[in-house]
Amino acid sequence: MARPEFHKLTVASVERLCSDAVAVTFDVPAPLADLFAFRAGQFVTLRNGDERRSYSICAAVGTPLRIGVRRVDGGLFSTLLVDRVQPGDVLEVLPPAGNFTPAGGDHHGLVVAGSGITPALSIAASVLAAGARVTLLYGNRRADTVMFGDELADLKDRYPARFQLVHVLSREPRDVELFSGRLDAAKLRALFGTVVPWADVDDWWLCGPYGLVTDARSVLSSLGVPDGRVHHELFYVDEPPPPPLRADDAVVRAAATCTVVLDGRSTDVPLPAGVPILDAAQRVRSDLPFACKGGVCGTCRALVVSGEVEMRRNYALEPREVEAGFVLTCQSVARTTSITVDFDA
Ligand code: FES
Repeated sequence: MARPEFHKLTVASVERLCSDAVAVTFDVPAPLADLFAFRAGQFVTLRNGDERRSYSICAAVGTPLRIGVRRVDGGLFSTLLVDRVQPGDVLEVLPPAGNFTPAGGDHHGLVVAGSGITPALSIAASVLAAGARVTLLYGNRRADTVMFGDELADLKDRYPARFQLVHVLSREPRDVELFSGRLDAAKLRALFGTVVPWADVDDWWLCGPYGLVTDARSVLSSLGVPDGRVHHELFYVDEPPPPPLRADDAVVRAAATCTVVLDGRSTDVPLPAGVPILDAAQRVRSDLPFACKGGVCGTCRALVVSGEVEMRRNYALEPREVEAGFVLTCQSVARTTSITVDFDA
């Protein structure tokens, strides 16, 4: 299958959601309409020079393509989008991708925090429109940092019997103690034991930082919810970085050669000791796929065909993919002096 390409899309509108977040809506020209048709919960990747970032679509299926963006500290791309992008600007966008998408089910449970609301809003609005029930637990620091608060209230008004919305604020007291504090394992247990009808939820959708996703997964697992009914999308990882490579580690000492296969073409790339495969290979193959470079999105996945690598972080690949030999090239350094990785696999 041909690798997706970037297309130039014009910004139709920019809505300010709160002090540090906007929603950006794109005009999709008719010839690109099929290519940019999206499923609930998918994302698009934007490119600005060498920088790429993925943003979740925050729109119901069948409505204009819209992404939600929150400014992150030091994030050049998010700062550009939140503070400078105007209607009429043209941005380079990859077609929608991602499998964080519901298929059927009568009752969907969503547990999200912060900008994790973006795919959740798309899922909630889409499945509610299709007649399903939704229970949404939404954690934020304060009321003024809540993204899409008005749109969620509108959904609640439109579907009062089928949409349960629970706001939990960590740094602002609420009238009901249950709705104050961090949306962590203890809070989830308390909510599931009282106001949230977890037992008849068909599928769970978790989106936000790593801690929230792992907490929610372990609580749902302890309640007997099968793994296959719990889906997650990570937005950022608030875990400590991997330990630095040791100077006497073989990984550090061994420079290697890496053969990169992409779109059927092989290229030999010198791989300096300790440098991730993606970083080294991009110097000669600028067409390599990537988005987050943080081990979260999975865009840089490739199969190790020969040699050995060490993957230092992985928040994207399933255990079965790792077992099959796939790695995140943005997180992988050489373990042998000759390696071949296949991005087409
Ligand atoms: S680029 Fe996102 S996991 Fe490697």
